[in-house]
Amino acid sequence: MIGVLDSGLGGVTVLRELVKTVKNANFLYYCDSVNNPYGDKSSDEVYSIVKNIVDFLLDKGCVTIVIACNTASAICVKRLREEYPDTLFIAIEPAYKMVHDYNPSGKTLVMATKGTIESEKFLALYHKYDNNNTILFPCSGLAELVEEGNEVEINRYLENNLSEYKGVDNVVLGCTHYPLIKKNIRRVLGDVKFFDGSVGVSKELARQLELKSITFDKNNRTSFDFINTSSDSNKNIRFMELMNSSDN
Ligand code: DGL
Repeated sequence: MIGVLDSGLGGVTVLRELVKTVKNANFLYYCDSVNNPYGDKSSDEVYSIVKNIVDFLLDKGCVTIVIACNTASAICVKRLREEYPDTLFIAIEPAYKMVHDYNPSGKTLVMATKGTIESEKFLALYHKYDNNNTILFPCSGLAELVEEGNEVEINRYLENNLSEYKGVDNVVLGCTHYPLIKKNIRRVLGDVKFFDGSVGVSKELARQLELKSITFDKNNRTSFDFINTSSDSNKNIRFMELMNSSDN
């Protein structure tokens, strides 16, 4: 089984790609809505939350864990790999390299949580591929609004915070919640090119499974299960709706 974790429903944007890319596997999605948002918490707090989830997923029999949360990846993956040397961790990161590969001269806005933008891991990526035409914008509070699904508040947030960036060409969606609000971002910024890490992380998972010779029974149907830490049963409904839809 492959564990997938996020601070809520955002990681569904990753899970949708994972099930398309890795066939015959069973996925267990851990939706930690109760601790959302991770992005404004201290690194120690995020690490201790994520470590508990990892222990839970390993207990459930997961052999591999996909961190479908940019914030958790940025803050935790190095330490997790040291603490759990026998576990394969696949970690998403903001798709800033894709900008370098596909539209390097374009004016670029990186949207991510404060935790991601201030992390050593992200800053190393940014300095490596810096196109000298990039704005880093820590979207404090935005993932929380997306998690609540409050359209009015999401639109107000974007109007208030992104209007000054009209004219950018590229937008890096550096939090797995943000692909869910592409349509809302376009309302403010117009027809921008979006970059997100879900396809990259799915390909990386497939590559690593092959390298490590981790295989699944060919007769097994790809499946996914959902664990939600909040008592809100609407989350289960939204999870299924999101799994059956594509980004707007
Ligand atoms: N989905 C998350 C990410 O990719 C986390 C948002 C949050 O909990 O702050 O960063």
